[in-house]
Amino acid sequence: MDTFTWGIIGPGNIATEFAEDLHLIKSAQHRVGAVLSHNLEKAAAFAEKEDAPQHFDDLNSFVENARVDAVYIATPHPLHHEETLRCLQHKIPVLCEKPLAMNSREVQEMVDASVEHNTFLMEGMWIRFLPSIGKVLSLVEGNAIGKIISIKADMSYKAPNDPEGRYFNPELGGGSLLDLGIYPVFLTHLLLGKPAIIKATARLSEKYIDEACAALFNYGNNSYAFVESSLVTETALRAAIYGETGSIHIGNPWNEKPPEIIVRPYDGADQRHPCAWEGRGLQYEAEEVARCVRQGKLYSDQLCHQFSLDLMATLDAIRQQTNIRYPADGQALAVSG
Ligand SMILES: NC(=O)c1ccc[n+]([C@@H]2O[C@H](COP(=O)([O-])OP(=O)(O)OC[C@H]3O[C@@H](n4cnc5c(N)ncnc54)[C@H](OP(=O)(O)O)[C@@H]3O)[C@@H](O)[C@H]2O)c1
Repeated sequence: MDTFTWGIIGPGNIATEFAEDLHLIKSAQHRVGAVLSHNLEKAAAFAEKEDAPQHFDDLNSFVENARVDAVYIATPHPLHHEETLRCLQHKIPVLCEKPLAMNSREVQEMVDASVEHNTFLMEGMWIRFLPSIGKVLSLVEGNAIGKIISIKADMSYKAPNDPEGRYFNPELGGGSLLDLGIYPVFLTHLLLGKPAIIKATARLSEKYIDEACAALFNYGNNSYAFVESSLVTETALRAAIYGETGSIHIGNPWNEKPPEIIVRPYDGADQRHPCAWEGRGLQYEAEEVARCVRQGKLYSDQLCHQFSLDLMATLDAIRQQTNIRYPADGQALAVSG
């Protein structure tokens, strides 16, 4: 059986779940071969748990010596840009956690590096590959609800009130939009594309990151969407898509493993589609990366470079309107105030 070897950068919460889900893949043997942490002992412990032969505490040494087929970058968002560039420069294919970077300038540089070094790059927007999102896409494409009129989706997590932690600290990319709001924005991009008009509002912290955020999108063709994210309140964690002949409802938690998807025709009975799969579901994006890398592709057709550029352009526009600021922006995002 083919073996696909992963490097892990940032062995934290999501990297732990990613490594666990790799064991669920049956199409090939996926394993962790190298781990990079700031702390050598932590890297060694993660490597030992995953039976990985290499561990590092230095990015230079990792990119020069890691024997891997691809790397999974799971550090706080402000580190994604630099770590991705370094890997691509060494021709290591990259799956980088969402958000791909802090702003459009950084995403463009990462995409350019992927092209220049002829090396695969994909944003870890893992829900694109979940069976639940695949089902929604096939229902919409199969005309189950007619033309889409509106989408309503939210994401929240009432985060621990730690100003230094990654949820509220601008230096670590804190804020609800980039961490959580990116999911509903992703769903709207998947189903309706780039919005023509964006109207956004936010509750900002003293450090200019959004504790909560909401936006209305208009598509210039009688379709619109409402998205919301929050680190300080608990919202419904649901997504609904309303069409001309019916609606689709993804249950709570819509961006994880919802119990079911309901299709509700306006003139008929509900159709229920239960959702079930092993693990969290990160194995599906890992399989897609392996397929693409084995085929020598630069990007996945299901989550391509342009999609990540468009997604970040929308996030940038929301940030400009609401004055959400990060050190990484420099002059790139012309915020006022
Ligand atoms: N796909 C998903 O469902 C999902 C879920 C949660 C998060 N994420 C994304 O994954 C990324 C990491 O999130 P997480 O929840 O896994 O975070 P986490 O538990 O804090 O892990 C991040 C890791 O990055 C490393 N790191 C490097 N520099 C750091 C710094 N200055 N401060 C803190 N950690 C630093 C740390 O490992 P070392 O100290 O060992 O280097 C840490 O273990 C974020 O971009 C987030 O948006 C995705």
